[in-house]
Amino acid sequence: MSLKTKYLGLDLSNPLVASASPLSAKLDNLRLLEDAGAAAIVLPSLFQEQIEAEAQAIDDRQIYANSSPEALTYFPSAASGPYGVGPERYVDLVRRATEALEIPVIASLNGSSLAGWVDYAGHLEKAGAAALELNMYHVPTNLMETGQDIEARYLEIVDAVCATVNLPVSIKLTPFLSSVGNFATTLVTHGASGLVLFNRLLQPDIDVAHLSLTDVLELSQPAEIRLPLLWTAILAGRTPASLATSTGVTTSADVVKCLLAGADVVMTTSALLRHDISYMKTLVAGLKHWMDEREFASLCEMRGMLSWARSADRSLYTRANYLRILERYADA
Ligand SMILES: Cc1cc2nc3c(=O)[nH]c(=O)nc-3n(C[C@H](O)[C@H](O)[C@H](O)COP(=O)(O)O)c2cc1C
Repeated sequence: MSLKTKYLGLDLSNPLVASASPLSAKLDNLRLLEDAGAAAIVLPSLFQEQIEAEAQAIDDRQIYANSSPEALTYFPSAASGPYGVGPERYVDLVRRATEALEIPVIASLNGSSLAGWVDYAGHLEKAGAAALELNMYHVPTNLMETGQDIEARYLEIVDAVCATVNLPVSIKLTPFLSSVGNFATTLVTHGASGLVLFNRLLQPDIDVAHLSLTDVLELSQPAEIRLPLLWTAILAGRTPASLATSTGVTTSADVVKCLLAGADVVMTTSALLRHDISYMKTLVAGLKHWMDEREFASLCEMRGMLSWARSADRSLYTRANYLRILERYADA
């Protein structure tokens, strides 16, 4: 039986990819992930804020070095950032990871507007990344900002990154767009080779006891797989881009679902954080077992069987089914 698949033009031994998380920030973990069967790994993101902080620190140092060299000692390290890793150390992580692993290492850039951080794509390519994942995480709190404004800015970033590197570039998309399918298609015409469906928006909660907002990170729940599954199924076979289904993938049955919907690869983070890295083995073994039982010899035979493009009953994906589900519930 062959679990081989292609993602972003890369040949992978199976469809399981460890998505960006602190797990992939350490070389030891990366080796464990590879040993446990991950076919590729996305490194945690290098954030726009980290790159801009470093650029600012360099400017400040130059200004103050000219006026008062002692003042330099007062500057905080540019290496501080969301993950405590500055750009140089991140590039070094990419270099060490690609040297240490046989499987492809995908670097991740995370930002929301066109600025100097985009140039880092070139550094990541030189450091040996097999591909680049762009996570454009933006919460449009400005009520005057239109969907078109946001999409134009995203496209500007994609254009700039694709013009900088020869690597395949995938976009980790938000599902909160007015037309996911149309924007996904446009991204591809701007050079994106792959789409990660979807990025997970971290939303604050409200603590009623303390009358305050809370921002504790909770791992995803299994039911969150439905939205990525829906859009994987709608896009599969209708875009030349590789598709990665991501968010809510918890069990090997979930992996099977994503592939039936049409995913080229399936990404997971929360499941690995909840169990441990070796859970990757369980996911791969469960997929093999399922295929074995149904006598599928390769992924191509099953991939996309239940996608929109190949579905006998497309109404299941549409408004018609909305009414049917509500009626069935009311009758029960
Ligand atoms: C602790 C933690 C850190 C994460 N860091 C990143 C990151 O640096 N860049 C990124 O694109 N996604 C990051 N993610 C998001 C995951 O890659 C993934 O998209 C999300 O957790 C949904 O997938 P899951 O349901 O398999 O967890 C992070 C998630 C967690 C839980």
